[in-house]
Amino acid sequence: MASITDSGEAGERPARPRGPLIYRQAILTRITHWVWVIALFFLLLSGLQIWNAHPALYIGQESGFAYDNAVLRIGAENTDAGPRGFTTIFGQKFDTTGVLGMSELRGRTNFVGFPGWATIPSFRDLATGRVVHFFFAWVLVGTLAVWLVASLLNGHLWRDVILKPRDLRDLPRDIWDHIRFRFHHGRTYNPLQKLAYFGVFFVLFPLIILTGLTMSPTMNAGWPWLVDLFGGRQTARTIHFVVMVLLVLFFVAHVAMVVLAGPINELRSMITGYYRTSPGTKPDAPTKGKAE
Ligand code: HEM
Repeated sequence: MASITDSGEAGERPARPRGPLIYRQAILTRITHWVWVIALFFLLLSGLQIWNAHPALYIGQESGFAYDNAVLRIGAENTDAGPRGFTTIFGQKFDTTGVLGMSELRGRTNFVGFPGWATIPSFRDLATGRVVHFFFAWVLVGTLAVWLVASLLNGHLWRDVILKPRDLRDLPRDIWDHIRFRFHHGRTYNPLQKLAYFGVFFVLFPLIILTGLTMSPTMNAGWPWLVDLFGGRQTARTIHFVVMVLLVLFFVAHVAMVVLAGPINELRSMITGYYRTSPGTKPDAPTKGKAE
């Protein structure tokens, strides 16, 4: 068997040269990350349960039976071929039988927007869906507050998340590197990662929280300007849904990048804090661990 050393010397087979192992993720960065992964899982599935109570989205202040101003609608209808599930997006109708509008739940046909496997609970239960959703919404808000304070104090926000002019200059090259699956493992995030994480922290999370609050009648009484800010409750609901879809797309791309960049090293950094860098990275200073 080939013996592989850190310096890249090998017995029979030359080992890939490796850079030093550095302490990259502070304890609060790791804890908050995994808490919001759990929170977002429950928020997504309970959110789809709530959405199923009225599976349509509108732009503007109104929704109603008198006119159809829906931008998205999921439902079921009787056709010559029997009942079918459908999804209409901007007037364009698609047959989505089996997944959206009409699906199977424990061997029985279920006429719901999103299928049972995508909701919590799997059967129609708006009350439980709301309890789960509001609980994890506050878990997410609390975790983000902890992340923000910790990241301000330990320098993570400025060092790793805020894009500097140099990151913007390097962005096109970094995108090209990602297209060719060439990943550089440095001390801090690469420009594309910074852009993606900045977008999650400062665009998607605030938007999904604020549009969620806009749908709350209590908040409408306390902060009526929120409804105006988002152009009405129905528009806020549509933005809430669109941001959910963007977070799901981020999740898919994020996990794909973790797998492509080296899942063991990437996951180790988000579990233990330690990260194997590319050759040429300066080793940690003796103050290692201070970032916590
Ligand atoms: C909804 C789900 C997720 C969201 C919103 C999310 C978001 C994020 C964000 C914002 C960061 C940067 C954190 C910071 O620097 O403070 C991050 C880092 C990271 N995430 Fe996630 N994440 C999710 C799920 C996952 C999953 C399922 C995995 C594992 C497969 C994962 C693995 C990682 C790793 C390894 C890093 C560190 C990347 C690096 O050091 O280069 N994430 N994630």
